[in-house]
Amino acid sequence: MKVGIMGAMHQEIEHIKKRMQVDAEKCIANRVYNTGKIDNTEVVLVFSNWGKVASASTATTLIQHFKCDFVIFTGVAGALAPDLNIGDIVVGSAAVQHDMDASPMFPRCEIPLTGITFFKVEEKHASSAVEAAKSFLAGVDEKIGQKTLSQFFISKPIVRLGLIATGDQFIQDKKAHIGLNFIEEKQPQAVEMEGAAVAQVCHDNNVPFVIFRTISDKADHSAHIDFEAFINQIAGQYAGGIVEEFMRASFG
Ligand code: ADE
Repeated sequence: MKVGIMGAMHQEIEHIKKRMQVDAEKCIANRVYNTGKIDNTEVVLVFSNWGKVASASTATTLIQHFKCDFVIFTGVAGALAPDLNIGDIVVGSAAVQHDMDASPMFPRCEIPLTGITFFKVEEKHASSAVEAAKSFLAGVDEKIGQKTLSQFFISKPIVRLGLIATGDQFIQDKKAHIGLNFIEEKQPQAVEMEGAAVAQVCHDNNVPFVIFRTISDKADHSAHIDFEAFINQIAGQYAGGIVEEFMRASFG
């Protein structure tokens, strides 16, 4: 078993790297891949870069070059479900490309010539991912500290299993850019810029995957937090802790 771990933020990579024994570093197509182990499992850790093409290219290298047979993606996301708050974790049950639209030849969001709209996460992996995220959050007060959490209005964060919407846009007005019809019909929980692209590559290569997303904003103008500070003080720690829990439960 070799696990590819992709993070969408450098700070996430740093926190995951701390938990890893790094044996080598290799640069391929503008990405730096750290190879080594977490506990006794071989892993390859890489910063995915942002957007669908960048992350798809990174996932392809993990699978084709490094022969990873499982992919973990961690990153931040905007909440689409109104009851999700900053600091909550969304675990993907499936991922959809909200900006794919080859209508009228194919229905909106269907990947042309595949018949696929939703890239599903295998149920057993999605439930292990939910458990890992829950056990991380169970100790989040001690790990991050209440003072820091309260700076970002995080209290009693939750884990939600649900659909993740991916597209090549940072969404600041979900009504205008994603559309209320899409949100009401498909009930995506979070929006980000990589998950469904990585999922498509994993699907084509028959490699299982999981997606973890920490809510950093509400994909509108409502939440005014310092994004950079959130990434530095919250998202990195979340990614490190969640990956640690998931690796231990699934491969340890
Ligand atoms: N990643 C974090 N927040 C996001 C947003 N609002 N849109 C797209 N990607 C995101």
